[in-house]
Amino acid sequence: MGTFYVTTPIYYVNDLPHIGHIYTTVVADTLARYRRLAGDDVYFLTGTDEHGQKIERAARKEGVRPIELADRVVARYHELWKKLGISHDDFIRTTQPRHARAVSEILRRMIAAGDVYEAKHEGWYCTGCETFYTEKELRQPGNLCPDHGTATEWKSEENFFFRLSRFERPLLEHYERRPDFVRPESRLNEVRAFVAGGLKDLSISRFGLDWGVPFPGRPGHSVWVWLDALTNYISALGFGGGPEESSRYDRYWKSDGVRMHLVGKDILRFHAVFWPAFLMSAGLPLPTCVWAHGWWLRDEQKMSKSVGNVVRPDHLIERFGSDPLRYFLLREMVFGQDAGFSDETFVDRFNSDLANDLGNTASRLVTLSRSAFGGRTPPVACDDNPLIAVAREVVAEYRAAMEELAFQGALRALWRLLAEANQYLVAREPWKQIKTAGPSEALSRVLWNGLESVRIVATGLLPFVPAVAPRVLAGIGAGAPPSTLDALGWGGLPVGRELAPLEPLFPRIDKEKYMSEIAPPAAAGGGASTPPDANLIDIERFASVELKVGDVLACEAVPKSEKLLKLSVDLGEGSPRQIVAGIAKAYRPEDLVGTQVVVVANLKPAKLMGNLSQGMLLAATDGEGLPILVRPHSAGIAAGTRVK
Ligand code: MSP
Repeated sequence: MGTFYVTTPIYYVNDLPHIGHIYTTVVADTLARYRRLAGDDVYFLTGTDEHGQKIERAARKEGVRPIELADRVVARYHELWKKLGISHDDFIRTTQPRHARAVSEILRRMIAAGDVYEAKHEGWYCTGCETFYTEKELRQPGNLCPDHGTATEWKSEENFFFRLSRFERPLLEHYERRPDFVRPESRLNEVRAFVAGGLKDLSISRFGLDWGVPFPGRPGHSVWVWLDALTNYISALGFGGGPEESSRYDRYWKSDGVRMHLVGKDILRFHAVFWPAFLMSAGLPLPTCVWAHGWWLRDEQKMSKSVGNVVRPDHLIERFGSDPLRYFLLREMVFGQDAGFSDETFVDRFNSDLANDLGNTASRLVTLSRSAFGGRTPPVACDDNPLIAVAREVVAEYRAAMEELAFQGALRALWRLLAEANQYLVAREPWKQIKTAGPSEALSRVLWNGLESVRIVATGLLPFVPAVAPRVLAGIGAGAPPSTLDALGWGGLPVGRELAPLEPLFPRIDKEKYMSEIAPPAAAGGGASTPPDANLIDIERFASVELKVGDVLACEAVPKSEKLLKLSVDLGEGSPRQIVAGIAKAYRPEDLVGTQVVVVANLKPAKLMGNLSQGMLLAATDGEGLPILVRPHSAGIAAGTRVK
């Protein structure tokens, strides 16, 4: 079997991990575990993206040095990956010396190839994306970032450019030759259309940004964060180091094996267009495949910090363990498409798939077998029954799905075997047989078949739920988890093996109780059964509302409106926001400029009389119905300071 190098994107350290972030890592881990079972020589990389303006600003806002912020968030990532059972072989940080060395080396090669030149660069810059946009690409009105919906800023500086335009043809030819370079296919079409539409040269340096890899030979300039970040995939393998350090690079990047990047669809262009072009220029091999997945949505919007609708994994893991979350993520999303996250679906999946189908089937079989056969697995196995054919089909389906990263399909296949095994048991009623015929050979075969089906399912689940699957295997008497996929063949369950009572694997969640715990129902109209404190919210819910202090930079009346004022408010984000507020009857524009307000910063943008409003001001209403703004008690609080 060959080498299999799989990577996740490296995560920005200005945000704590949410469900959208952990998804790619859980997918990569499942794949890595599967490939190891399939006998591949696997190397699995994840890490953090720590440079750039976005990080520098986030650190400044918190009053710490960027590296302090990075260290703090990296510690959280390590903790979380441990809890989630992530089996990565390496964790790269772009602030490590091994990384800076690799960035300088790839750049040296690109320069030597004549693909880098110096010129003036102007454009609209989004700090969120760390990317320049043309006016055409922006969302109007307001010159907003097409991805984040936040304001961009005009930048003009002397930069180094990469001759991306030179790679239009070579890239198109590569897509033609290797149609599986981008998966799923629909994404390849998107990428191809983007390249065919014409590639402009790319600015690959920033002037005056200290927090980055220094641009070789150009003091004051640093390497563009995306060139910096993308290089992580080879810097972690020792590219640019001495022969000893780079042996991993030779083994996993220069060999004939698989080099697969898993990414979210929003960063596909960077991986499927820019990265291969950089590598072509530097004369280095390309990844063999870039696989893009969809987004986790909440209330039909991408889950993201800027929208403020993120689901953090901590609570779910603490409460239910990491495997139910892993299972949910892999079962609920069709890899490549978007999926919605809701607590309700999480609980339903947990109860029906894990507690009922898997947990109850296993525990019922263990109980029956223990009571019929003196606390042991059945004494007689069976190689002639209808479940064998089903298991063979299911395993083939499972393996084909895993090759295609169709995790949902693989799980569905395993669940089909569980369902068939249950039907088989219901039809034979072993619980009655125990009473009528005692521990007969026929009963042994029936129970053994049921347990063997569960063994195959649990074996298939090893890459998905690495903490619970071994417990199931041990619990049904199958012993230690196997190390190869051969264990998916029928017939592996030992006979007459001692069986301990099975601890509940997935205690059923009381849905109503749980839902009311995490989101108490609103009291309004609740009727007699509504408890008096039903409209209390917990601290997490309150924390999801981002209240921030803002400096009013400018203000004007909205034409033809008696009530509305249009304000430009600095929230410490680099560029001000436009906020429209119904306060014209109580405030004159000139009285507001230079004062501070409190803003609901993560409110969905809305249009008021055709004017975009990116937030809301907090105000009380006095006895005459006039608004009174809520303001900090003392002046001079830094713009962007959180109110809580
Ligand atoms: N640092 C860059 C990646 C550099 S890779 C050389 C970056 N970081 S990120 O932290 O913003 O995002 C990391 C990954 O999380 C991306 O693949 C992104 O698509 C993914 N997700 C962030 N929000 C997401 C969802 N709501 N749903 C699914 N994945 C999403 O981009």
